[in-house]
Amino acid sequence: MSLLEVEELRTGYGALPVLQGISFSVEEGQTAVMFGLNGAGKTTTVNALAGLLPIWSGDVRLDGKSLKGLDAPKIVAAGIGLSPEGRRVFPALSVLTNLRLGAWTRKSAGRKQADDTIARVFEYFPRLEERKDQLAGTMSGGEQQMLAIGRAIMSRPRILMIDEASLGLSPKLAQTVFQVVSQINDDGTTVVIVEQNVGVLPYADQALIMEKGTITYDGSGADLEKSGDLRKTYLGDASDLH
Ligand SMILES: Nc1ncnc2c1ncn2[C@@H]1O[C@H](COP(=O)(O)OP(=O)(O)OP(=O)(O)O)[C@@H](O)[C@H]1O
Ligand SMILES: [Mg+2]
Repeated sequence: MSLLEVEELRTGYGALPVLQGISFSVEEGQTAVMFGLNGAGKTTTVNALAGLLPIWSGDVRLDGKSLKGLDAPKIVAAGIGLSPEGRRVFPALSVLTNLRLGAWTRKSAGRKQADDTIARVFEYFPRLEERKDQLAGTMSGGEQQMLAIGRAIMSRPRILMIDEASLGLSPKLAQTVFQVVSQINDDGTTVVIVEQNVGVLPYADQALIMEKGTITYDGSGADLEKSGDLRKTYLGDASDLH
């Protein structure tokens, strides 16, 4: 059994269907990367998995247990953490407070465990420790991305989902973020990243390509890197641009 199983998932907005019944699985311990053009349905997918959109039909299972009908906090508690598109840190709150808020679904676990997890986040992102009292809204884009990922880790997820990990970051900083995410993965967290930067491919055990609400490629990252399909399918036919 795979850790994450998505089966014939359909959802959308109001009467507008977006996901046309997608199916894929992610194995425990792997990093899956989802590519796709703007509007393909990547954010809709991770938001549906995080319980931010209702599942119209089909199912999402974590470790064999259906998440259908659970609200977002219950899904976080079940073990899926999301660093959302646009980062969405609380701008008027400090780095430390943002992190503490990320642990609220584990309140019963107590302050000691939250402090331990904060220490772990600071090991991954030393920059956040240097800036722990700074207001999140005054941080650079890259620092806010680190904070958004750090906040998602605070719930100690089994699956960390990151929507647009490198958007707006310099190539160098994007690589740094990918390396830290790879370390988080090595430490035992399964990772699902939505990404437009092909520089992430070396870190991808599994690659998915999404087009118009369907999954058109599901295979190994290495195969995709070699196949040239990435250019053709993900970057699109050059004639589309004219
Ligand atoms: N809140 C919404 N209300 C109505 N339609 C929406 C809403 N959010 C997204 N959509 C539509 O759903 C489709 C998929 O959008 P989605 O944000 O999932 O794409 P994406 O693959 O994440 O794109 P991008 O790479 O630009 O982030 C698009 O056609 C979009 O216009
Ligand atoms: Mg998106």
